[in-house]
Amino acid sequence: MRWSQTILLGASTAMAANPALMARAPTGSFNLYAYGDGIGGAPIIYNGESVYVGLPAAFSNSTEAAPVLFDLSDNVLTGNPNTTSSSSPSWSNVTMFIPASGSSSHSIGFVSGSSSNSSITTDGFLFYGQAVLHKNSAGSLETLWYAIPTDVDRVWTLAWNSTSDSTNGTVPISLRSTAPTTTGFDFGNSTETTETTA
Ligand SMILES: *[C@@H]1O[C@H](CO)[C@@H](O)[C@H](O)[C@H]1NC(C)=O
Ligand SMILES: *[C@@H]1O[C@H](CO)[C@@H](O)[C@H](O)[C@H]1NC(C)=O
Ligand SMILES: *[C@@H]1O[C@H](CO)[C@@H](O)[C@H](O)[C@H]1NC(C)=O
Ligand SMILES: *[C@@H]1O[C@H](CO)[C@@H](O)[C@H](O)[C@H]1NC(C)=O
Ligand SMILES: *[C@@H]1O[C@H](CO)[C@@H](O)[C@H](O)[C@H]1NC(C)=O
Ligand SMILES: *[C@@H]1O[C@H](CO)[C@@H](O)[C@H](O)[C@H]1NC(C)=O
Ligand SMILES: *[C@@H]1O[C@H](CO)[C@@H](O)[C@H](O)[C@H]1NC(C)=O
Repeated sequence: MRWSQTILLGASTAMAANPALMARAPTGSFNLYAYGDGIGGAPIIYNGESVYVGLPAAFSNSTEAAPVLFDLSDNVLTGNPNTTSSSSPSWSNVTMFIPASGSSSHSIGFVSGSSSNSSITTDGFLFYGQAVLHKNSAGSLETLWYAIPTDVDRVWTLAWNSTSDSTNGTVPISLRSTAPTTTGFDFGNSTETTETTA
């Protein structure tokens, strides 16, 4: 999957040409939103078990589900519930992981405390503009985020490295701290929300 590297190279050229367009990484806590074909800014949502991108309203029947409020420190992404009065999940201060480099797993999740192991990677995350990338141990930047449809309309499972995933309807995405420009998260049909400049 090299599509996003091409986009990045194009974007960096454009940014070099016009520094005023270079968006900055957030300095405090932030939400992350998925952008891809038909997914115009769906926030990351966690329910204590699985990590999704999707319409928050689809999770209104779950008290454990909430959009994730992230912090990035020492290249580690920590998540807390972006709590509202209507939900109070029991999870907090969880650390996001992707499969270890070279793994054929697609699973993204959160661990708490020191439950990391050699099958997963919890560090190496960084911002490029407002997009979150991963720097592997060899120093290469990777962005292998993708979304897998679920049974619920406008809800996808967040995943990593679609190589050899034959699931129908997967969508390569970028993860950005930029909120969608339209209100109401109207990302469920063919009209993709335009995001603000990288
Ligand atoms: C919550 O709603 C979703 C559809 O939005 C449904 O798939 C799921 O089964 C529901 N969960 C419970 C516990 O009712
Ligand atoms: C997180 O909470 C803030 C403050 O309540 C709200 O403005 C923002 O839209 C929330 N983010 C998401 C992704 O729901
Ligand atoms: C992606 O998965 C394939 C196998 O499915 C594996 O060979 C490859 O190393 C993985 N890529 C990364 C960056 O982990
Ligand atoms: C969050 O978890 C990390 C380790 O997983 C720990 O070092 C830190 O103290 C925790 N922070 C809070 C506020 O609980
Ligand atoms: C590593 O941690 C992940 C996330 O908790 C878990 O799914 C996986 O089974 C663990 N692998 C091993 C070998 O312990
Ligand atoms: C994938 O979707 C297409 C079109 O909806 C369908 O024709 C095909 O049978 C699906 N393939 C699998 C493996 O589900
Ligand atoms: C699709 O987008 C159009 C235009 O924004 C909107 O009017 C329509 O309600 C949307 N359809 C669905 C199913 O959300």
